Amino acid sequence: MAEKHYLTGKEIRKIAKENKKAMMALEKEKWKKKPESEFLTTMKDENNILEIDNLNTYFFTDQGVVKAVNGVSFNIPLHKTVGIVGESGCGKSVTSMSVMRLLQGPQGQIASGEIRFKASDYKRDAKGNPIATGTDENGNPIYETEEKIYDIAKMPMNEIHRIRGRQISMIFQEPMTSLNPVFTIGNQLDEVTFIHQPGATKESAKAKSLEMLNLVGIAAPERVYNSYPHELSGGMRQRVMISMALACDPRLIIADEPTTALDVTIQAQILELLRDLKEKMDGSIMLITHDLGVIAEMADYVVVMYAGRVIEMGTVREIFHNPMHPYTIGLQKSKPTMQSDSDTLFNIPGNVPNPINMPKHCFFKERCDKCIKKCGGEYPQMIKISDTHFVACHLYEEGENE
Ligand SMILES: Nc1ncnc2c1ncn2[C@@H]1O[C@H](COP(=O)(O)OP(=O)(O)OP(=O)(O)O)[C@@H](O)[C@H]1O
Ligand code: SF4
Ligand SMILES: [Mg+2]
Repeated sequence: MAEKHYLTGKEIRKIAKENKKAMMALEKEKWKKKPESEFLTTMKDENNILEIDNLNTYFFTDQGVVKAVNGVSFNIPLHKTVGIVGESGCGKSVTSMSVMRLLQGPQGQIASGEIRFKASDYKRDAKGNPIATGTDENGNPIYETEEKIYDIAKMPMNEIHRIRGRQISMIFQEPMTSLNPVFTIGNQLDEVTFIHQPGATKESAKAKSLEMLNLVGIAAPERVYNSYPHELSGGMRQRVMISMALACDPRLIIADEPTTALDVTIQAQILELLRDLKEKMDGSIMLITHDLGVIAEMADYVVVMYAGRVIEMGTVREIFHNPMHPYTIGLQKSKPTMQSDSDTLFNIPGNVPNPINMPKHCFFKERCDKCIKKCGGEYPQMIKISDTHFVACHLYEEGENE
């Protein structure tokens, strides 16, 4: 029998009604004020800066619920770079937007899961206000900091400023859309300092901005400081974005396709800059890209995503020298060569299942050339191959001799 590809008016109305109820409940929870104790937690492993644990992020659409991130778990260790790779639409950006709590509500919502982050924040009183321990020579209050583990997924929106753009900052693919065209670079950089450094003066903010522009390799910082975004080249704008992301000494930088919009030589320069800065700031990087070459050069660990799930993860060595999931193996084969444009998309035949109606079985089944009988049954569990290497595929379960 032919499959039905449309919804009737009645079905759409039913979905809309159900969506509204679910969205509103999640939206209300998001804005509810709560004491810090309700979003404090503990890390499973002290060596991590971020632990994403069974994260589910959904979009409530008129066609149904899109499970863009569907039970994702992975860690980012302290001082390490973790590369997230997977083809278009697999949920890389939605994962990062969940960590930053930048999802567009009410449609986009974290439905469940934990995002544990090791933050350094002010000591606070019962009302959540920072406790001043004295004043500096200019009469500005001095605040003491301490280490706290926040569950970002449970943080109310009015507290997100504690981490967003301060402890965690983000570099986007297209800097032109993130920079404001009507203000100079200087205005926008100074603003970051004003927001995050209480007591900053006009002079101290400018000094910090010029220092940051210098740090990201801009040879004429004063000229760039006085320029508008459209007066700069793409590579220069990306350097400015990186300097903005660094202005508040973040512990974690999320870079979502930071070089995709740039030409090849500039790409290499920006990657070099990111590597150099990671050493200097001693932080961690979550690097999202569909380019395996970038991962090989930059990352310590790799997380491979497919249709909203993590299907394999390991050290960069494990993923490149011993890929196990048929999808990861396919990615390696479809990797662009040195001669071709590194922006080439993956080319594994077949399509991802409809995100609204995911099957019960392995999501890669329809494209997999190694399918066994079991693959038509339950979705495969994550199997531990080594302390760092995990794969979700029936081929590696006990009793299956591949
Ligand atoms: N606002 C939205 N409404 C409905 N669905 C959305 C929305 N934003 C994202 N999605 C869906 O969520 C899924 C994951 O999208 P995401 O942007 O995370 O992909 P990605 O891995 O970053 O892809 P790309 O490499 O193209 O950037 C996709 O199926 C996408 O269609
Ligand atoms: S579980 Fe089966 S269908 Fe899925 S990737 Fe492994 S072999 Fe292929
Ligand atoms: Mg994306």
